[in-house]
Amino acid sequence: MLKNDMLEQWDRDNFFHPSTHLAQFARGEAPHRVIKGGTGCHIEDREGNRLLDAFAGLYCVNVGYGRTDIADAIADQARELAYYHSYVGHGTEASITLAKMVLDRAPDHMSKVYFGLSGSDANETNIKLVWYYNNILGRPEKKKIISRWRGYHGSGLMTGSLTGLELFHKKFDLPLTQVIHTEAPYYFRRDDLDMDEAAFTAHCVAELEALIAREGADTIAAFIGEPVLGTGGIVPPPAGYWAAIQEVLERNDILLIADEVVTGFGRLGTMMGSAHYDLRPDLITIAKGLTSAYAPLSGSIVSDRMWKVLEQGTDENGPIGHGWTYSAHPIGAAAGVANLKLIDELNLVQAAGDTGAYFQSALRNALGDHANVGEVRGEGLMAAVEFVADRDGRRFFDASEKVGPRVAAALLEEGVIGRAMPQGDILGFAPPFCLTREEADEVAGKAAKAVAAVLG
Ligand SMILES: Cc1ncc(COP(=O)(O)O)c(C=O)c1O
Repeated sequence: MLKNDMLEQWDRDNFFHPSTHLAQFARGEAPHRVIKGGTGCHIEDREGNRLLDAFAGLYCVNVGYGRTDIADAIADQARELAYYHSYVGHGTEASITLAKMVLDRAPDHMSKVYFGLSGSDANETNIKLVWYYNNILGRPEKKKIISRWRGYHGSGLMTGSLTGLELFHKKFDLPLTQVIHTEAPYYFRRDDLDMDEAAFTAHCVAELEALIAREGADTIAAFIGEPVLGTGGIVPPPAGYWAAIQEVLERNDILLIADEVVTGFGRLGTMMGSAHYDLRPDLITIAKGLTSAYAPLSGSIVSDRMWKVLEQGTDENGPIGHGWTYSAHPIGAAAGVANLKLIDELNLVQAAGDTGAYFQSALRNALGDHANVGEVRGEGLMAAVEFVADRDGRRFFDASEKVGPRVAAALLEEGVIGRAMPQGDILGFAPPFCLTREEADEVAGKAAKAVAAVLG
């Protein structure tokens, strides 16, 4: 095919890219890159550059690129039946099969799954279900949602409010008033450097209890959290965090929404993050890993206890007033079935755990002693390197120095994609589960070179 040399111009003239500096991009000052293909952990751009994608797209291409089993399932489904809706009891073989497969992988007390398209819309669904639930139970005042600073739950009106990152609020009139934020479970960024991890967990719990006391438990419906903070910095929780938080929630009759958009289906080396941290959620959000992003599909998994109330609600009020045209889209569902089968066949959950441990130690060996590396951390195949101006006093760089983005750019020069996380100088990694040990070593070695190029 003849190369279209207008493509860059068309891109800059017409395409509104998410999470992009719009003015710089339009002026040609920010990079434009066209991705053409991918296999395994590598993608290739239109200029012929082959890059090792150590962030799996947006931590979503969990099984790796170029899986023909999933591509074939999508093509077969499109040929047989590209679309039918799932309203008023309709479904397809793929969507019903996928619902069964999802429930088989979820904690035993989960009852049903509603399918959407993105992590954001699944969390919008979750909040509507929480509000509906409390209305049916005759508690119309119990509606506020607690989220954590640095949590990421999407970028819609409600989900952008739940997200606890400044960039997603500023100038958008968010957060909405129904959302309140509490302490991020981020031990490395604790205010009091003398606190040990157990004391920091106790501090997070005390902050939550104080918030509940201030607002009144009878006004608070739910708490939402990612088992491991993702976009907020890739931060595993401090020891004992989830057990202690759940005790507070249960005591105050506050529902738990586990946002497993990143952790669901293997990334922590366990099928679900809920099992990894012994969570007992009332709702679980799933997306990315459900289809490994071969097609857009998300889900809200609903517990038995909530489901009973939803049934009561429809007995009293008629059919549930919620649904998208593309809910349980057959092509997404076919991709999901093929993806989950592949994960089982190739034993990729175990691979994520094993390679994750290997990768984290490779990163520690390569970077742990650098004077500007404050911490190397991770869980399963989520890992992060956090940079500091001064390690002993844990002094952070000024944001204007853009240390994180500069290191990520230097790494890209080496042919490896890592992600400069949006708040703080943090280089994040979340590679596909098929990452080999050689590739893990390559990422760690090139990360060390990139850090040396920027920070010496
Ligand atoms: C934990 C979590 N929840 C929700 C979302 C939103 O998903 P989406 O971008 O598909 O709307 C993301 C996206 O990164 C996420 O990481």
